[in-house]
Amino acid sequence: MIIAIDGPAAAGKGTLARRLADHFGFAYLDTGSLYRAVGLAVLRANKSPDDIEAANQAAAKLDTSLFGDPALRAEVTGNAASKVAAIPSVRTNLLEFQRNFSDRPPGGKKGAVLDGRDVGTVVCPGADLKLFVTASPEVRAERRQLEILGRGEAAEFEEILADVRARDERDMNRKDAPLKPAEDALLLDTSELDIDAVFLRAVALVEERL
Ligand code: DC
Repeated sequence: MIIAIDGPAAAGKGTLARRLADHFGFAYLDTGSLYRAVGLAVLRANKSPDDIEAANQAAAKLDTSLFGDPALRAEVTGNAASKVAAIPSVRTNLLEFQRNFSDRPPGGKKGAVLDGRDVGTVVCPGADLKLFVTASPEVRAERRQLEILGRGEAAEFEEILADVRARDERDMNRKDAPLKPAEDALLLDTSELDIDAVFLRAVALVEERL
C-alpha cells in the first residue's frame, strides 16, 4: 500500500503523513528532507543553492546523516531546498532513493507513506491513494509563525507570508515536476479543518482501499 501526500509548504501534510504511517504501521518518508539535505550540504560548502554543479555533487552523494541535523528545519534550509529542487539533475539523483523506499518499505513494513511535492505525479504515479493537502497562504504562514515562535526564535508574520508565497511560486512554476495535484488525487483543504478532522477523513480513505 503506497500513500502519496503532496501539497505546498506548511499545509499540514507532514503531520498527516506521520500520523497515518503510525496508525497503519507503515513506513514514512518526508521527501522534502532529501532536498533539504542537499540544500544544507550546499550552504555548508559555502556555495549558492543556485550553483548547479555544487547541488549536483551534494545530490549524487546524499548525506543521510543530515536528516537528524537541527539545521535541516531552518527557514534558510527550506529556501535553499526549494532552489536546488528546481535543478532537473538533482531531482533525477534523488528519485532512486524515493522509489527504493516506496518499493521496499524499510523494516519489512506493509506499506509506505511519502509526502512531498511530486510524489503522486512523478515518484509514485501508481500510488494506491493520493492526497493533495492545501491551505491558504495566510493560514500556512500563521502555522509556520507559531512553529518558529515555539522554537523560541523570532518570526515576523509579513516576512513569513512573503516567504511562503515565494516558495509556492518557485515550487509550482519550475519546469521539472512542479507542485500540482495528480489527476487522481483527492484534495483536502486544511484552512478550515483541524488536523484531527483531516486525519479521520484520511484514515477512512485508506481503510476503503485496504
Ligand atoms: O516540504 P519541505 O518544506 O520540507 O520541502 C522543502 C523544499 O523541497 C520544497 O520547497 C520543494 C522541495 N521538494 C520538492 O521539490 N519535491 C519534493 N517531493 C519535496 C520537496
